[in-house]
Amino acid sequence: ADALKIGIAGLGTVGASLAKILVERRDMLTTTCGRPIDIVAVTARTRGRDRGVDLSGAEWFDEPVALAREAKIDVFVELMGGAGDPALAAVKAALSRGVHVVTANKALLAAHGVELAALAEKHGALLNYEAAVAGGIPVIKALRESLTGNTISRVYGIMNGTCNYILTKMEKEGLSFEACLKEAQRLGYAEADPAFDIEGNDTAHKLSILTTLAFGTRISADDIYLEGITNISIDDIRAAADLGYRIKLLGVAQKTDTGVEQRVHPTMVPLDSVIAQVDGVTNAVAIESDILGELLMVGPGAGGNATASAVLGDIADIAKSRPGAQTVPVLGRPAAALAPYERAQ
Ligand code: HSE
Repeated sequence: ADALKIGIAGLGTVGASLAKILVERRDMLTTTCGRPIDIVAVTARTRGRDRGVDLSGAEWFDEPVALAREAKIDVFVELMGGAGDPALAAVKAALSRGVHVVTANKALLAAHGVELAALAEKHGALLNYEAAVAGGIPVIKALRESLTGNTISRVYGIMNGTCNYILTKMEKEGLSFEACLKEAQRLGYAEADPAFDIEGNDTAHKLSILTTLAFGTRISADDIYLEGITNISIDDIRAAADLGYRIKLLGVAQKTDTGVEQRVHPTMVPLDSVIAQVDGVTNAVAIESDILGELLMVGPGAGGNATASAVLGDIADIAKSRPGAQTVPVLGRPAAALAPYERAQ
């Protein structure tokens, strides 16, 4: 069968991990997907840097939008980040010509997800974004596909690896907030601007996407009560422990009688709860639904390989799909069928 041709925009921690895996596991992926997956085009902020993988066979583009518009590709893989241009313009350019998109960009989806879903639907393109929420945990697939038909009452969890890593390390090693954050940055967990992690915005972006999938409402990232972990001290962590609790940064979305409530804030969770045991960069997402009951998924939430694993799964889904076959709506239901967001009173 013909190879699936992909173009990658962004060769940072995630992009480099992905490229390496695609090259090293080409034979294995060819068997599982029924066709090879080839990187035919790339773009990144700097060209020359050694990324541990030979990409000299791929066409180089200076501009992501040019790659999305001109490269001969089946899939545009957006790993640049940022809610606006060039990521937004590039994703739009790809979808507008029917090129499928795989993205890990939660900020982009939180701001423009409904518009992009509608654009994908209009042009018969797929838009996959498993890596955008909780890294390697297949939470998008769970909400978008597996739980179809369930009525969901609540989604909550630990969705930022950097914050959980900081809180864990402060408690276990007694290190300062700043030292823990530096280490999270060194390990490739943090956002380019780590304020997004520690002030809770990254969790809010992810939560807004899960809210839409869970409740079928339009994305509303501005309707989230937001409080990050910047004010948490080692004394707070110790005081919580004395009372039998651990502090976790949670994102919570739930259905109430009046609408949807979304909030992100540090929360005291009982030491003997599963959530309290989720350590380091690990994420956890709980989904409460009426047919299945409570589903809890725990796994690596940030970092090159965890995120690349989810991106790879999204690309493989496209490689396995047949043209014209019925596909899963981007936001769980057609974009036009999303209900208005009504904020709980
Ligand atoms: N900065 C994010 C985190 C990366 O720490 O969870 C994964 O989205």
